[in-house]
Amino acid sequence: MTETAQHSTGRLIIVSNRLPVVFERDGDALKSRPGSGGLVTALAPVLRGRGGTWIGWSGLPDSDQEDVESVLNDSSQPSGYALHAVPLTSEELDLYYHGFANEILWPLFHDLQSQCNFDPAYWDAYCSVNRKFAEHVTTYAVTDDFIWIHDYHLMLTAASLREFGVENRLGFFLHIPFPSPDIFLKLPWRFQILNALLDFDLIGFQTMRDKRNFVECVRMLLPKVPARSIGGFHLLRQTGRDVRAGAFPISIDFTEFERRAQSHEVSESAWYIHEALPDRQIVLGVDRLDYTKGIPSRLEAFRNTLRRHPDMIQNITLVQIVVPSRTDIPKYNDLKVEIERLVSEINGEFTRSGWVPIHYIFRHLTRRELLGYYRTAEIALITPIKDGMNLVAKEYIACNIERNGVLILSEFAGAVSQLHRDALLVNPYDIDGMSDAVYQAFTMSYEERRLRMRRLRAGVKRHDIYRWVESYLEAAVSRHLYDFPVTSEYIPPVEAQEIGLSI
Ligand code: ADP
Ligand code: F6P
Repeated sequence: MTETAQHSTGRLIIVSNRLPVVFERDGDALKSRPGSGGLVTALAPVLRGRGGTWIGWSGLPDSDQEDVESVLNDSSQPSGYALHAVPLTSEELDLYYHGFANEILWPLFHDLQSQCNFDPAYWDAYCSVNRKFAEHVTTYAVTDDFIWIHDYHLMLTAASLREFGVENRLGFFLHIPFPSPDIFLKLPWRFQILNALLDFDLIGFQTMRDKRNFVECVRMLLPKVPARSIGGFHLLRQTGRDVRAGAFPISIDFTEFERRAQSHEVSESAWYIHEALPDRQIVLGVDRLDYTKGIPSRLEAFRNTLRRHPDMIQNITLVQIVVPSRTDIPKYNDLKVEIERLVSEINGEFTRSGWVPIHYIFRHLTRRELLGYYRTAEIALITPIKDGMNLVAKEYIACNIERNGVLILSEFAGAVSQLHRDALLVNPYDIDGMSDAVYQAFTMSYEERRLRMRRLRAGVKRHDIYRWVESYLEAAVSRHLYDFPVTSEYIPPVEAQEIGLSI
């Protein structure tokens, strides 16, 4: 790579709804802790390595802004990059974050249009908060900075920045899927959003499928915008500029996860976890509380496995970790109740003296605890009904330093485009199929586990977060888009009769 954005532009300014730290009030004191979620995990090491500025909401309402800024100033120094908070009022949060972002865009972009609440008041707040983010960007950005805006919360920000006369290069990356035209068409504000996206210079998606969906939406709704392809990219001609659209599967800091997994503290934590659950295989599920993650069907599949394979009783334990998320939205709370009901039903049906089939954890874990589970679990069961990428799958692979774990992965996670060869693939709507995959993983020979995991690890290591950021930034400036590697698109093989692919 010769022509990176680092050479041709100034600093990197990252803008996202959330900052990498979450603030909480503890009496009078303000406490901060690392945020969870794929966006934060992926981007924090990037800025640590390159320096720059991160602009986002603090996680607290407006009234605490002064305290927040002072804590951010203190934490900017050690983290190696500057953090700036965008204050949001409780009403803005309700309408823009809980409302437009999480009751409209989130379900719609995950193909769940029946879960959407198309309240028009949400749209007005979405427009004004995107404008507010743009105003904050203009306070900190100078000419030549590369301004990189992230995720579905901020799809209108480039349009506001252009209105303010900002001429910097503007990049956008969508961390969640982009829906097909049939679904996108249902959005009452479809034209405004598509047009606003075309104010960016580079629009990045997780997979080729997402990019294809976006280009098809532009072709259908904005037929006057000429679109042509170059290598894996599309160029969309808008007001005399070529807007680039490409696929950049996001990743993790593989080496850092591997190093942490090898550390004494994680080894100890892994040892204690398995010591408490001896003589059995651990199947691990790790998810934010979210209806896109497919947790109820996964629990049903686990129940089905125990019913169909009584030999597994007392020889397998599902550890399901759920991190609290968006609990102010009623659907998320309903999901929590449903998960708890299923866990207690299944445990009630199968528990034996000294053996409980499902260990359920509902809280934010420390890195040490989480990595301990990744390292020690024999099987990871990752079955979202739709997911932009799913970094948990890649984290599990990086932490599996014994190289004997099996990854069971949904066909509808973005990660499948890179991991399909060596994971056991499942359709998360197919309960019997998922249950067969659990049994296949449980009985898989040591040699096959090693072979698959070795290849999975090599792939994630090669395509890590640093390669992702380099390739995105280079795509923003390169004159040679033909030379970029084209990422593949996963399509279920027509003739596959079995789960997974034979080796
Ligand atoms: P999403 O972006 O939808 O949350 P991802 O799988 O891409 O999904 O990312 C989830 C991130 O949240 C991962 O980086 C994972 O390490 C982190 N995470 C998930 N569960 C926990 C937990 N219980 N405690 C701490 N971090 C968690
Ligand atoms: O990856 C999708 C995403 O929405 C990120 O943008 C976000 O950081 C993460 O999930 C967690 O969600 P939230 O910020 O709403 O808690």
